Amino acid sequence: MSTYRSVKGMNDLFGDEAAGIIGVEQVFRRLAGTYGAQEVRTPILESKQLFVRSVGEGTDVVGKEMYAFTDRDGSELVMRPEATASVARMVVQHNLLHTDPKLRVFYAGPMFRRERPQKGRYRQFHQIGIECFGEASPVADIEVIALAHSLLLELGLDDVVIELGNVGGADCRPAYLDKLNSFLAQLGDALPEAARETAARNPLRLLDSKDALVQELLAEAPLPMDHLSASHQAHHDALLSGLQALGINVRVNKRMVRGLDYYCGPVFEAITQKLGAQAAVLAGGRYDGLLKAVGGADCPAVGFAGGSERLLLLAQSQRQTRSRTLGCYLEKEPVNLGVAAAPGANINDLLKFVTALRSAGVRVASDLSGRSLKAQMKALHRSACAYVLVLGETEFESNQAALRRMADGTTVNISLDFDTVLKAVLED
Ligand code: HAM
Repeated sequence: MSTYRSVKGMNDLFGDEAAGIIGVEQVFRRLAGTYGAQEVRTPILESKQLFVRSVGEGTDVVGKEMYAFTDRDGSELVMRPEATASVARMVVQHNLLHTDPKLRVFYAGPMFRRERPQKGRYRQFHQIGIECFGEASPVADIEVIALAHSLLLELGLDDVVIELGNVGGADCRPAYLDKLNSFLAQLGDALPEAARETAARNPLRLLDSKDALVQELLAEAPLPMDHLSASHQAHHDALLSGLQALGINVRVNKRMVRGLDYYCGPVFEAITQKLGAQAAVLAGGRYDGLLKAVGGADCPAVGFAGGSERLLLLAQSQRQTRSRTLGCYLEKEPVNLGVAAAPGANINDLLKFVTALRSAGVRVASDLSGRSLKAQMKALHRSACAYVLVLGETEFESNQAALRRMADGTTVNISLDFDTVLKAVLED
């Protein structure tokens, strides 16, 4: 066993898993591009205050799960637990809405949350996500959900249900919270201690509590979706009608609250039964107040992020229906040509030969470190090359070599002219 092991909940990605995560990202990259979004990358480290102000101090993500530390100059830094706040900061810092008031950006990358690791839940995980700014109309919510829907379809995840909730906004939240708080006050000591603490910090969170007793006690609680202002209700109705027009089925979940404070209005989650407690494979919603909260102008915004590992786990569990799109990333790229050095070969000639082929896009396997021809051939067999060339002084002098086709063992003599070799090995 090696002395050093990866940090708990933080996984090395290699083989099929690395290819699969890259595949999920590539599928998303292509789809997000069709919605006019440009790819961005923000730093992993951000100021702690950014997430306290946006995601909210009372949330688990900020209150309990952030990797935080004090830098040498005394600044309080964290490893980003999510990217929406980072993107909002970037948009404000660089005044990006000045040149494009309807900016759409997408990202793919690692996020960090110190949760209890289990299948589908890690301390370093990857998200793909999109954020759309400057669009108050429900059309933006519809397009964001349509993108999420096509991602699920492309990955072959047809038994995932998109749930839609609505947490209301500034014009309905205070009155609703008053109602909820008086309902909770009536319950008094019947609520367990921990639930009372949650009620004091963030009463909305009790609505999706996993505690059976709390669920029972709150069965008749007032729900945000039943207390929307006229404008939020109209927005929600238009959203539902747009989704229906696109043939996208959603299940309304009036109890959905989400674990991040910046949402207002519609919120959604794509839910699976196949990953145990880690049911959400992607989630998002509208967050019109976030840009202002991080120092920008008032600006409507909506987006979502998906957990790449969860999307991949699910795609892998559905091998029969798995999308061809993702499958092509999981299949190893074939090696076009294996090159072995004959005894006494001039290694520099060989290096020049294989480097020129690689520059032209040929995948070449070779081991020119001076091992026996037998050992080289064994290694080339393992790497499943389509063709093999054994090159030495004789071949370079005559400019001719025997090209072996590994599928049937046949050989043909070919000229070592660059174009001839290129054509021969890329033929299949
Ligand atoms: P979130 O619900 O916290 O939202 O995370 C989005 C997705 O990331 C989840 O549905 C899940 O698939 C994945 N995820 C979260 N935590 C973990 C974990 N510990 N291990 C593995 N996967 C995980 C957000 O992060 C918002 N920024 C989404 C958003 C974008 N809203 C608007 N724009």
